[in-house]
Amino acid sequence: MVHSAKAGAGGLLRLGVVGVGVMGANHARVLADLAEVKLVGIADPDQKQRDLVSKALGCAGHADVEALIAGGVDAITIAAPTHLHRHLALTCIRHGVHILVEKPIASSVEEGRAIIAAAQRAGVTLMIGHVERFNPAVEAIKTAIRDEDILSIAITRVGPFPPRMSNVGVVIDLAVHDIDLIRWFTDSDIVEVQPQLSNAIAEREDIALLQFRTASGVLAHINTNWLTPFKARSVTVATRKKYIMGDLLTRQVTECFGFQPDGSYSMRHLSVGHAEPLRSELQAFVSAIRLGKPPAVTGEEGVASLEIAIRCLEGRDAERCVTAPPTQARDLSMRESVDPSGLVTT
Ligand SMILES: NC(=O)c1ccc[n+]([C@@H]2O[C@H](COP(=O)([O-])OP(=O)(O)OC[C@H]3O[C@@H](n4cnc5c(N)ncnc54)[C@H](O)[C@@H]3O)[C@@H](O)[C@H]2O)c1
Repeated sequence: MVHSAKAGAGGLLRLGVVGVGVMGANHARVLADLAEVKLVGIADPDQKQRDLVSKALGCAGHADVEALIAGGVDAITIAAPTHLHRHLALTCIRHGVHILVEKPIASSVEEGRAIIAAAQRAGVTLMIGHVERFNPAVEAIKTAIRDEDILSIAITRVGPFPPRMSNVGVVIDLAVHDIDLIRWFTDSDIVEVQPQLSNAIAEREDIALLQFRTASGVLAHINTNWLTPFKARSVTVATRKKYIMGDLLTRQVTECFGFQPDGSYSMRHLSVGHAEPLRSELQAFVSAIRLGKPPAVTGEEGVASLEIAIRCLEGRDAERCVTAPPTQARDLSMRESVDPSGLVTT
């Protein structure tokens, strides 16, 4: 049973953000502008970053989550590095604070489950930041395949190395978005995993070709890497009666339908909205808190996607010993010299 939040003075929900780096600064920007919300503060041990964001948005800046909570908050979004999610989430939950945890939910399935169990015991809302679900192009694809017999899904998510690297590779950083999309598009669990990984430049995998089969029999494929000079994100879905192509960056979604025996077919562009995905996601979080309803992306869904991503990595270390010559296993610091033009977002 999740408690709905008591609104503060003026009916505003008091929100805070923990970790205001690349992603958290965007959380704070969007929250500062949301109706029915007051961004009361942010927390980040990096003073420069903290001051930058708190001054720009006119909210309090704190060095740690405890100080942010002591200032009085109803809910917090957690966008600190993934290995800190468990500790930060449990701290918030202990104080009865509703949380949105950035993807992936945690560093391990066990940590993710600990967050879920604590949130359930405390009766607080727990939502996971799988923001791609709120991309209007993804929403249009989801609508187009409703009631269709889905046969296969292919997703491409490639680009250059991010400017600031965490200690995870492309599977945990990027493919986890698409694992979530495959599970969501098909309303089914992934039951078979066939990963191909390689580390061309980095210590961790920087190229991954992942194949899956869902319990419902859908075949799915993810092509992801940090070795492409430009960002590309595309989804194609083949159903028995339609073929849908979506570009998640330009937000153009096209469907082919009416297949004829002579090979002809019809084609149309689908109507796609313009909303900023992060804004829609945070609105959904606020709405779940206010109504005391299950959030759009649950902790269980976050753990399920993380579990599949981790299965993709099983055996990786053994394989790397065999396939990666020492000259290729260069230091991670090399990544900083790669063109950092790609944003870290999705
Ligand atoms: N949904 C998406 O599309 C998306 C995109 C990027 C990152 N993320 C996720 O967001 C999280 C952060 O990633 P990022 O790229 O913004 O990282 P980042 O390194 O840019 O920012 C992390 C921030 O957290 C701060 N921090 C460190 N320890 C902290 C602590 N104890 N308490 C509070 N803040 C602390 C750091 O000082 C830094 O400012 C990760 O979990 C990542 O997977 C999600």
